[in-house]
Amino acid sequence: MKIAFWASLALAAFFGTFMLLTAGWERPPIKSVQTGYRGLALEQNINPRREATVIARNQLPDVIPEASPEGPRASAVYENVQVLGHLSEEQFVRVMLAITDWVSRDEGCNYCHVAENLADDSLYPKRVARRMLQMTAHTNLSWQKHVRETGVTCYTCHRGQPVPEKIWFSNPGPVAARGPVGYRAGQNIAAASVGTTSLPFDPFPSLLNDDNVRVISTSALPSGDGASIKRTERTYALMMHMSRALGQNCTFCHNSRSFFDWNQSAPQRTSAWYGIRMVRDLNTNYLVPLTPTFPPHRLGPLGDVAKINCGTCHQGVNKPLLGASMLRDYPELNEVKQ
Ligand code: HEC
Ligand code: HEC
Ligand code: HEC
Ligand code: HEC
Repeated sequence: MKIAFWASLALAAFFGTFMLLTAGWERPPIKSVQTGYRGLALEQNINPRREATVIARNQLPDVIPEASPEGPRASAVYENVQVLGHLSEEQFVRVMLAITDWVSRDEGCNYCHVAENLADDSLYPKRVARRMLQMTAHTNLSWQKHVRETGVTCYTCHRGQPVPEKIWFSNPGPVAARGPVGYRAGQNIAAASVGTTSLPFDPFPSLLNDDNVRVISTSALPSGDGASIKRTERTYALMMHMSRALGQNCTFCHNSRSFFDWNQSAPQRTSAWYGIRMVRDLNTNYLVPLTPTFPPHRLGPLGDVAKINCGTCHQGVNKPLLGASMLRDYPELNEVKQ
């Protein structure tokens, strides 16, 4: 009797500690917020302790005072301006000050510039920055279905650092046995990118290639719509990434009685659909072509360039920077020549 009592106490203590110390368990209280029509379980579970950290991490930098659009054009004042030439000189300097604060806060102007000659293009960050200026304007002007009027600035991704915190490279995975025996389609590796599930560890190729993100086949017999077990696993892996990147549960976008059906999904799912297409566009047309511009130490293990995923902008919240629009204060950013 006594032994049974102590044994059950020990077991309870063991499992209690296990629950508190392992990932996936959170200490109560957890707030539950309904985000869809009542009765559909479209709701989010929020940990109030996490909220304070999120707010602290999403503070905006100071706004640089507005610049006059009057006066001589930057193209007339400087030697080598290819994309910001039609701004006034004052606006041009404002952009330089802003991008320094947003991208190389600790490093300063000389992260991109050779101090003796600001027109010199020999440092790679300057050449990358020129393309980034174009990419930012393109995102704001051509992807309004995703970024809306809120838009993005360099700060959305960079947060004061030259290399954004959330990026991805092609992942060769762990060394496996040769032949069919060693092939496990990326499963059972407990990668953080897919929430330590047994799903394929690399959810990101779908954010570069035109992958068909599907689970349910649209016909009874195989019809070439590509639904398969492998594709299902890839889809779930991407969904895990999207949920984590936005800090939301699946029910932020889906009604769990039918993940497939758009009519029962939340409007956020449509934003996410455009988001997937936008990320593919930015990776394919901006980052990948910059590969030869970067020095080898900035490339991944397979020699590819760092790329964007949902987390690069979102960083754990449903709207980057909690929905604040920095772009509103910097109209110059949308006047970059493509
Ligand atoms: C993140 C990279 C980056 C940082 C940091 C940066 N610049 Fe620039 N700068 C550029 C790019 C890119 C151009 C070229 C723009 C174009 O082609 O339209 C440029 C061009 C210039 C030019 C024009 C030079 C010429 O004659 O062609 C001046 C002046 C300048 N920057 C000043 C500054 C100053 C001052 C700072 C620091 C407050 C600074 N920049 C910080 C990227 C940067
Ligand atoms: C959508 C996200 C995103 C936005 C917006 C963005 N960048 Fe980047 N930037 C990246 C990624 C991803 C890289 C590649 C990381 C690396 O350098 O390895 C990068 C790299 C850079 C680098 C090279 C840093 C280095 O040392 O390798 C510079 C400089 C830069 N960006 C400047 C800018 C400027 C200036 C803007 C705004 C006009 C901007 N970026 C906007 C995602 C972004
Ligand atoms: C931010 C919104 C969002 C979140 C969060 C999200 N999804 Fe999705 N989900 C989508 C979008 C958008 C698609 C369609 C993608 C496409 O067609 O490119 C999709 C597709 C799917 C599909 C495929 C349906 C079909 O057509 O066969 C399944 C299954 C799915 N999601 C499950 C999940 C699960 C499980 C989670 C949580 C781990 C989740 N989703 C989280 C937006 C989301
Ligand atoms: C270039 C930066 C950027 C990237 C990358 C990005 N987003 Fe967004 N996203 C935004 C901005 C900005 C908003 C806010 C738009 C607004 O004000 O409604 C947003 C809003 C959303 C919303 C609507 C949230 C809400 O509460 O209504 C969803 C869902 C979303 N993004 C999903 C995604 C997914 C999924 C990915 C990756 C496939 C992604 N985003 C990648 C910038 C980005």
